[in-house]
Formats: sequence, C-alpha cells, structure tokens
Amino acid sequence: MKEIKFVDLKSQYLSIKSEIDNAIQEVLLASAFAGGPFVKKFEEDFANIHGAKFCSGINNGTSALHIVFMAINLGRGDEVIIPANTFIATPASVSLQGGKPVFVDCSEDDFNIDPDKIEKAITPKTKVIMPVHLYGQPAQMGRIMEIAKKYNLTIVEDCAQAHMAEFEGRKVGNFGVAGCFSFYPGKNLGAYGEGGAVICSNEEFWKRIQAIKEHGSFKKYYHEYLGHNYRLEGIQGAILDVKLKYIESWTDKRRKNADLYRKYLAGVKDIVLPKESKNVKHVYHIFVIRTKRRDELNKFLNENGIQTGIHYPIPCHLQHSYKFMGYKEGDFPVSEKLSNEILSLPMSEQISEEDIIYVCDKIRAFFK
Ligand SMILES: Cc1ncc(COP(=O)(O)O)c(C=O)c1O
Repeated sequence: MKEIKFVDLKSQYLSIKSEIDNAIQEVLLASAFAGGPFVKKFEEDFANIHGAKFCSGINNGTSALHIVFMAINLGRGDEVIIPANTFIATPASVSLQGGKPVFVDCSEDDFNIDPDKIEKAITPKTKVIMPVHLYGQPAQMGRIMEIAKKYNLTIVEDCAQAHMAEFEGRKVGNFGVAGCFSFYPGKNLGAYGEGGAVICSNEEFWKRIQAIKEHGSFKKYYHEYLGHNYRLEGIQGAILDVKLKYIESWTDKRRKNADLYRKYLAGVKDIVLPKESKNVKHVYHIFVIRTKRRDELNKFLNENGIQTGIHYPIPCHLQHSYKFMGYKEGDFPVSEKLSNEILSLPMSEQISEEDIIYVCDKIRAFFK
C-alpha cells in the first residue's frame, strides 16, 4: 500500500543534506552551541526576509510568545483577546504570565479570529489583542488594527504557522509590537529540534527581549531584569539559516500544492475547501478541508496509508486546562463546529502531484 506522510521531513533533509551536514559541522568546530554567531547570522537574515528591523532567536515558539508578555510587563489579571480556535500555546503564554486570555470566536471564512466579535470582548482590563495567523492564512489585520487603535491596545501576532505570509502585501509579524514564530520541525521553516523567534522594529524592545532570554542580562552575571533561559541553540540557528534560502521557493511550492488539491477535489460536494481571503498571501502551513463525516473520512484515509491531522479537535475554551475559567459548550459555536468538521490533509513542499492525486482519489472514492 502507498504511504503518504503528513509532512515528509526526511526527503526535505535529503534534498539539502550536504549543506545541512556542513552547517552542523561548522557549529561543532566553532563550539558555538548556545546563542553565538550562527544564531546572530540567522537573526539578521530572518529579520531581513520578513521585512522587520530586528529578530531575536528563541528556544521555541511558546517561549517566543511568553517572552513578549514578559517584555511588555503584562500584569496579573490583564486581559488578552485570543481566538478560541488555536493551539494551546497561544493562551498558555498569557496565563503563564498571570494574564487572562479572553477567547473570541473565529470566522467560518478563514478560521481566524472574527473581527466583528472582538469589540464585545473588550473590557477596561483589556491590554492586548493577539491574532493568530492560523494554518498559514493571515487574520484580517486591517480591521483588527482599527480596533486596536480605537481602544489603544497592543497587538502581539502569533505567526507560528505563517512564515512569509502577507496581509495586503505586508509580511505578518510587522503589525504590532512583535511577531512570534515557531520553528518546530514540521513548520514551514523548521529546526531539527526546537526553535522560535520574535521579530520587531523597535530597537529598545528588541534589546529587552535579547536580555530577558539571557536571564535578564546585557552583560554576563549582571542582571537588569528577571529573565529566563530562552536562547536558541547554535546548531538550530545554523540549520535554520540554510533552510531560509529555500523558504521562498518552498512557499511557492506549498501554494501550488494547494492549487492542485483544489483542482483534484473540485466538485466533491460533501467537502468544503479552504477559502483564501482576497487581501492575503496564504502560505498553507496546513491544508484544512471540512466535512460533516470527518471521523469516518479520517479513518478511511488512514486505512489507505494517508497520514492526516486535526488542528484542533477541542477548542481552547473547552480544554481541561481552562476549565477553571468557566467557559462552556455553546460559547463559541463556530470554533466548536469546526473542531468536529476539520481535517488536515498531507501538505509540504515535498509532496508530489502524484501523491496529491492519490489522496484526492481516495477522498472521491470515500464519498461515492
Ligand atoms: C499557533 C501556534 N502558536 C504557538 C505554537 C508554539 O510553538 P512551539 O511548538 O515551537 O512552542 C504553535 C506550535 O505548534 C502554534 O501552532
């Protein structure tokens, strides 16, 4: 039976093996393991390609979000508006800092936070709106920025799934005080281990982040702030810098693969294909379809050797870890409906047209 991986990291590695192997060797020979010159070079290159002035390499995406809340001094009880449909790290980064995530339902069009529902969630304690560019599709930043301006709120963007994505021609991560990225291995830009980054364009803020990730120090053993060890490893910096050269062509390939899925799934009545908003560049970290028969289809595809995913089966407000907040079923009906209907199909720059046709043929066979 054919086997189709959700993301084929081995074949990606083999396609750039000698460059990666050399980069790792260089780090070993330089003994530059924690932070250091390879991380610095990657930070400069990542800021550049993302149209930001500064970048700070961080040890993972969750820490990248958390360090921003440390840096803006989010206080106990300060409220942060967050979409209910996201990965748990988004609200956890707020809760871990003593803040309060306030969930808002998402839109059925792009699965992102619904700008029409944000104002109702604003209270005198609201400090931040944190849009998530879920699955690689930017949230509607124009509307979100207007609301932030009207209520004098800070914007922190969760760009963990959206490297190189654009809203109205501008790369994500540049709309507010900071943009936070994850380089978890399966991401559009993935480390060979853990990794993350914060981009920003305010030098003072960047310096603060650089210090907080080093136990709050600008100079070794002199500590200005309470901080953490959130450094990116040298080996990951070197690997990410090699992969960064390919990110534009890999993103194009993902977009072409999304077109192929649309072509070969056209006319299948029982599924809804993902909509791409007119004013964004979607980078298809995940290709998510919807169907009322999600669990049956998922089982059928898995039995036919096709790996799939569900992002995510339980919206944040109904997770056990947030039970203490008192949310209940029915609070965010769109997110709840989506969590029962969404299915993520194999997607990467490595998947071939032949494999996409195989997946689409199996989906057609299932609904016949
Ligand atoms: C939307 C979102 N936010 C935050 C994160 C956290 O990133 P990491 O896994 O690198 O800590 C992820 C990672 O999956 C994510 O998808």
